[in-house]
Amino acid sequence: MEKTIKIYEGKAKIVFETVAPDLLIQYFKDDATAFDATKKGTIKDKGIMNNKISSRLFQILEKEGIPTHFVKILNEREMLIKRVVIIPVEVTIRNIVAGGMSRALGLEEGLKLDCPVLEYHLKNDSLHDPLINEYHIKALKIASLTEIETIKNYSFKVNEILTRFFSSINLDLIDFKLEFGRFKDEEIILADEISPDTCRLWEKTTGKRLDKDRFRRDLGNIEEAYQEVLRRVSK
Ligand SMILES: Nc1ncnc2c1ncn2[C@@H]1O[C@H](COP(=O)(O)OP(=O)(O)OP(=O)(O)O)[C@@H](O)[C@H]1O
Ligand SMILES: [Mg+2]
Repeated sequence: MEKTIKIYEGKAKIVFETVAPDLLIQYFKDDATAFDATKKGTIKDKGIMNNKISSRLFQILEKEGIPTHFVKILNEREMLIKRVVIIPVEVTIRNIVAGGMSRALGLEEGLKLDCPVLEYHLKNDSLHDPLINEYHIKALKIASLTEIETIKNYSFKVNEILTRFFSSINLDLIDFKLEFGRFKDEEIILADEISPDTCRLWEKTTGKRLDKDRFRRDLGNIEEAYQEVLRRVSK
């Protein structure tokens, strides 16, 4: 499958059309951003690693009954995906307090939550992706009630599947962000990527962070951390 027109260039990926109207190619870049893109940099071979990690995780999820946009991996940096209309909401699930939740609520990082917490953030960079709830989504016609229920059910199920999977490779899934879209105007499917850019992963035995926090907080050994995640998910 060949790329035709570039339709979007984001912070981490470039999206291209293909000759097939329902299929796109997402190209993974090495660019890294944090804190509303006020911090910019590159992580060597991140695109290659995230493409591979994301492909593997989408395959695991598909096998467990979660519909995703993943079609196949094309080469080191490119993934063939189903074209969706993205629902402009980022869904975050948190199992352990970290990052934004720690700052917003004054809670210590590492605090285990009694049950997973689901958050919605409006995808709007200029408004700094504000926290919203289901009433905003419904009142602003961002998604229907049925769609919200589907998104919520899938998100919690993804959490169960990925928590179990990462646990088997000695990683704690602290929190993660998902994006969903409408495929052919009807079916809700999981889109975008699942990688150390979008998940917090802490090594169970040492608490070592194997995710983008190494870049956000200048912890060093960033490439090595992504490589390690890739090595473990590929086992
Ligand atoms: N299957 C899909 N069909 C159409 N668009 C998709 C699909 N999966 C992901 N996208 C969108 O493609 C873009 C990928 O680029 P990237 O993740 O780099 O964007 P970004 O810089 O994070 O910005 P933003 O997500 O705010 O647009 C995102 O806008 C994402 O929502
Ligand atoms: Mg993105």
